[in-house]
Amino acid sequence: MTEVLVIGAAGKTGRAVTRALLARAVTVRAAVRPGSTSPVYAGPSVHVVPLDLLSGTGLPVAVAGVDAVYHLAPNVHPDEVGIARRVAEAAAAEGISRFAFHSVLHPDDASMPHHLRKAEAEQVVRSTIATTTVLRPAAYHQNLVDAALSGRMVVPYSLDSAFTNVDLDDVAEVAALVLTQEGHEGATHDLAGPEVLSVRDLAARAGDVLGRTVEAVELDRDAWASGPGASLPEQAREELLAMFRSYDRDGLVGDPATLRGLLGREPRTWTDVLRDAVTA
Ligand SMILES: NC(=O)c1ccc[n+]([C@@H]2O[C@H](COP(=O)([O-])OP(=O)(O)OC[C@H]3O[C@@H](n4cnc5c(N)ncnc54)[C@H](OP(=O)(O)O)[C@@H]3O)[C@@H](O)[C@H]2O)c1
Repeated sequence: MTEVLVIGAAGKTGRAVTRALLARAVTVRAAVRPGSTSPVYAGPSVHVVPLDLLSGTGLPVAVAGVDAVYHLAPNVHPDEVGIARRVAEAAAAEGISRFAFHSVLHPDDASMPHHLRKAEAEQVVRSTIATTTVLRPAAYHQNLVDAALSGRMVVPYSLDSAFTNVDLDDVAEVAALVLTQEGHEGATHDLAGPEVLSVRDLAARAGDVLGRTVEAVELDRDAWASGPGASLPEQAREELLAMFRSYDRDGLVGDPATLRGLLGREPRTWTDVLRDAVTA
């Protein structure tokens, strides 16, 4: 039986990856921040281990005896590269060659410092474990589902910028696939959704699905910084502001061909994701 260590297992991505692995009858060792109150995706084949990514405390026990590791970093974390190094070195010391790293679409985009850290982290894990598979997802549809259901999608960037947002469950399915099948060693896969849509388009589609008006609202960035962004550490706030400026200019668009090929079917659309959310 295969056992996979999932880092950040109690987070949005970690929960989705855990669920996708369980669907393939894989046992999951779910690494969770000590003291965290966030729930993992529970199941009889999920075993929680404490792991502090900052100090590395818990890493030797977390990697001991697993067949593969799925690594992701907490969002816009300033020590993303150090975290990647610690996790990859612990996995290498255990002789693990099946290692997947959750990066981001366009990690080399210099207008976004946290993307550049992902690019550096990719290099670090690759130089530690040459067989590492890198997944580069676009922004998730799930980031905007609750806003759509509330009838008001408020974003601090242009409503007309183009995005190829992707279904997180499709991303998780690919994660489970590369962790359990041969042939992805050393590969880098962009994971972009099948449609190019602006937030204005997403709101209009949501209105069609929900049968009521869904507003798209652009929030002034100063208002974001002193409102929703105010509680963030300054580094995270500044990096997200840089991301919003980048989204204004370029959106975030990728080619869906790789995702389609890996899934062997059409990737799920915003409409699919919303319909599921309505029936959930
Ligand atoms: N959201 C997107 O659209 C998107 C798209 C592409 C790539 N990504 C990337 O996906 C990654 C994961 O994002 P996410 O939204 O799933 O993040 P998330 O929900 O914040 O999950 C991160 C997890 O890491 C845990 N964590 C934080 N500090 C830790 C520490 N010191 N030691 C151990 N665990 C710690 C958190 O624990 P607690 O729950 O206890 O806080 C949380 O469960 C990020 O690197 C992001 O850049 C996201």
